[in-house]
Amino acid sequence: MRRVLIALLWCGAAAAETPGEALFLRGAGAEAIIGGGAVRLPASRFACAGCHGADGEGRAEGGTAFPAIHWSALTARAAPYDAAAVLRVLREGVAPDGRVLGSAMPRYEAPPGVMESLVAHLRGLKAAGEAIGSDRIRVLASGDAALDAGFAAAAARFNDRGGAYGRRLELVEGGPGIALAGLAEAVAPRLTEACTDALLTAMRQAGVTDFAQIGGRPADVAYRARAVGLTLTDRAEDILAMAAPERGAAGRHYYGCLDVLGPVAGALVAEGSRLTIALPDRAAFDWARAGGHDRQAMRGYTLGGLLGQAARDAGRRTTGAKLTEAARALPVAIEVISLP
Ligand code: HEC
Repeated sequence: MRRVLIALLWCGAAAAETPGEALFLRGAGAEAIIGGGAVRLPASRFACAGCHGADGEGRAEGGTAFPAIHWSALTARAAPYDAAAVLRVLREGVAPDGRVLGSAMPRYEAPPGVMESLVAHLRGLKAAGEAIGSDRIRVLASGDAALDAGFAAAAARFNDRGGAYGRRLELVEGGPGIALAGLAEAVAPRLTEACTDALLTAMRQAGVTDFAQIGGRPADVAYRARAVGLTLTDRAEDILAMAAPERGAAGRHYYGCLDVLGPVAGALVAEGSRLTIALPDRAAFDWARAGGHDRQAMRGYTLGGLLGQAARDAGRRTTGAKLTEAARALPVAIEVISLP
């Protein structure tokens, strides 16, 4: 039986949504009190974002003005909000200047902690808003040198090609910005899934029946593979750790995801094996291969490409929150390539 190795090195958990973000975006976890206190309903029908926008920038619609409620706006009022004032306006409808808000703005009740988390989310909207300037999109370095270097390389390519709407991608060390680490976390599960799909399809088409795996989350992959009639036989890390002669040198076919790169890929190709690799970004792969960069750097490069694409798609008027969301939701086109 032919043995095939699948490498899934792009693993990571979805960025957990905070209770405040869930309330803001979907009205989860709270009750809305409307009609002057007469009616209590699940707040799911009254998500803040539904009226004030996902970016908290506000808007006017049908004769009603929905004010901007991101932190920069709230703290710039003549009678500025602080955290306690936001809690009060949400529970009682009374603004810091003593004004009682109209009935178009619901009142909210939530279990302890949820409102505080909502305030934290509003504070975050400020940072995201300021991440986007007229001529730049600020991205906060992750502190992981390889991830940052990969992102910077993709950003340079994006900027050389004119950026988007006159904006360049800029990697910064501090201040407001789209957090690269958060973006990486948010996008990882999607890439893993798209990649696994592409690989399983490729293996099926190649008539492969069993395979071993490198990295990743074995249970997930094994489960998904079983569903399409493939069997995970063992952990390929062990096999790769063996000396080439022991694991039977030439003629093997390895299946991998994204980043079977550098010394491993080179060695495998050199000993006469064939690699089939699923990639979300060919440019990232070519860049990493040419410069001998590792998979984390390739990941950073891929993220730079995705964020650049999101910036082009988003149009002139956008915010950090919207861009992050767009990058997270972009369809990932997986390319399956073979080496040599
Ligand atoms: C059904 C639409 C709607 C929903 C849902 C809604 N708001 Fe409002 N909100 C309004 C309107 C309209 C006003 C302006 C009311 C006024 O000035 O009388 C307002 C005002 C506010 C203000 C006061 C701003 C200021 O300038 O003083 C804050 C803060 C606020 N909303 C936060 C929230 C938050 C947080 C949520 C979600 C938990 C939310 N709103 C959900 C419609 C809505």
